[in-house]
Amino acid sequence: MNKGYFITLEGGEGVGKTTNLRFVREFLERRGKRVLATREPGGTPVGEKIRALFLGDGEVSPETELLLVFAARAQHLLDVIEPALESGAWVVCDRFTDASYAYQGGGRQVDAEFILALEERVQKGRQPDLTLLFDAPVEVGMARAKKRGPIDRMEKETLAFYERVRETYLRLAGRFPNRVKLIDASRPIVEVEEAIATHLNHLCGQ
Ligand code: TMP
Repeated sequence: MNKGYFITLEGGEGVGKTTNLRFVREFLERRGKRVLATREPGGTPVGEKIRALFLGDGEVSPETELLLVFAARAQHLLDVIEPALESGAWVVCDRFTDASYAYQGGGRQVDAEFILALEERVQKGRQPDLTLLFDAPVEVGMARAKKRGPIDRMEKETLAFYERVRETYLRLAGRFPNRVKLIDASRPIVEVEEAIATHLNHLCGQ
């Protein structure tokens, strides 16, 4: 059986992840891959309930945030991601643990050791094979996100919070250059798609 790969999409608000995920999915399907597209937090019935709690209004401590995303992730790995990879499907996930480092670690300043401990226990060594990190100046992304419609609890955060999120993502790209591929999301969409295609072709072995 052909091996399935685990691809994650990351980035701050308004960097075009949803459009790019559609492109990734169609690109892989055209190459005959069986694709499962999913998202975090979410991806399972309980995960979607956690997502609603997570993005809903009300005070949530940084540690509670972290535990919520990892609770959803544990179920997601068990019920969806691992079985799909095992069956040879390609899993394309809108956000994964890099988002916990960026948002809870960078944005909320939760100790990275705490995140690492959860990552080790919950993922048991599972890591994405490829992470496409879409990067744009914070003001550009926030303006796009606001145009999209009503904003959620996270999107109410300050520019300083989002600068820390962006810096943490960029640091992750520097730390894991083989896995995390940085894509300038402020470029025209055709150029963004060309960059995505280059990374996917590499993974497909072309
Ligand atoms: P989005 O995927 O629609 O952008 O929304 C998900 C929100 O959840 C986004 O603000 C980032 C946030 N998030 C975290 O803070 N930590 C995480 O680990 C994940 C997966 C998402």
